[in-house]
Amino acid sequence: MRAKARAHTNIALIKYWGKRDEQLFLPTNSSLSMTLDHFYTDTTVTFDNDLKQDYFNLNNEQASEEETEKISRFLDKVRDLANDQRFARVDSINHVPTAAGFASSASGFAALAAAATKAIGLDLTKRELSQVARLGSGSASRSIYGGFVEWQKGEREDGSDCYALPVLEQEDWDLNVLSVEVTTQSKKVLSREGMKRTVDTSIFYDGWLKAAREDMVTLKQAITKRDFTLFGETLEANALKMHATTLGANPPFMYWQSATMRVMEAVQSLREQGVEAYYTIDAGPNVKVVCQPQDKEKTINALNEIDVVNQIYTCQIGPGIRYLDV
Ligand code: ADP
Ligand code: DP6
Ligand code: CO
Repeated sequence: MRAKARAHTNIALIKYWGKRDEQLFLPTNSSLSMTLDHFYTDTTVTFDNDLKQDYFNLNNEQASEEETEKISRFLDKVRDLANDQRFARVDSINHVPTAAGFASSASGFAALAAAATKAIGLDLTKRELSQVARLGSGSASRSIYGGFVEWQKGEREDGSDCYALPVLEQEDWDLNVLSVEVTTQSKKVLSREGMKRTVDTSIFYDGWLKAAREDMVTLKQAITKRDFTLFGETLEANALKMHATTLGANPPFMYWQSATMRVMEAVQSLREQGVEAYYTIDAGPNVKVVCQPQDKEKTINALNEIDVVNQIYTCQIGPGIRYLDV
């Protein structure tokens, strides 16, 4: 009744930004991501007859009641699937900053889904696992796979056609993602609340939905052709449009800090000097810069010159989930 799994985070190139069903985590738009090798979560789940409640330890500390409650609600779904109501102990280590826009919810819930379903004796396909992970955090549905991954929004109300699929394998396009840390503080508006407020109130939301559909078509063409310029221009523009929706919300909010903009400006000036780098930003102030291996050094050097940059993590495209020995 015990299993351990590792899942990597992913960075969305076409963002998931909004739910049409909050209980089932059904998104309003399809999204596309790259799994990253550098950031991951290791989670061990043990179901135990003797436990009277669920326990959740994150980074060797007992998590808050609120966080434990989130894990319990997720485990309830796994228990219902397996028809087994035992409580569990969950031990998780994030090799990624938690709730700071580095997608800890993606690696966290993908690892938890894999470990919990295995520990309880379910033998799921990757597609089914993607659907289970989705019920913890939408972006986790994509972290089941390595490489380039599309999460299809699906049409059905029960979510049966809503899962992620691999688009291109890890080894089929060698790119770098420089994850630029300007702060590791937790965000004030969690992704979940931020996207809900946007769906409910942003005057720009219809424009986002139209753009996300179009950008998806263009980005997939760019991937098929390995057209890095089209790829970069599309992913950067998509991130900007997602962030624009937050400014049109009520009350309005933004995830960027002044340091975020300093990094964005540096990337723009790199391009003016002929170095092809593009940025994307999730729900947080940190920036991810995408470039080709031949431009990696120049890009890192330019980013290192910015005084507000704390650290730069060099990532490559990473693998999908795997089970570890316990
Ligand atoms: P992030 O940018 O890190 O994904 P989110 O706001 O999307 O930030 O999600 C943060 C939430 O993800 C945390 O509050 C917690 O509920 C969940 N989370 C983070 N790490 C883990 C983990 N290892 N296991 C389970 N849940 C996790
Ligand atoms: C901006 O998957 O963290 O990073 O489904 O509510 O847990 P919940 O939200 P989450 O949202 C991620 C939003 C994003 C874009 C993306 O990863 O696609
Ligand atoms: Co998240």
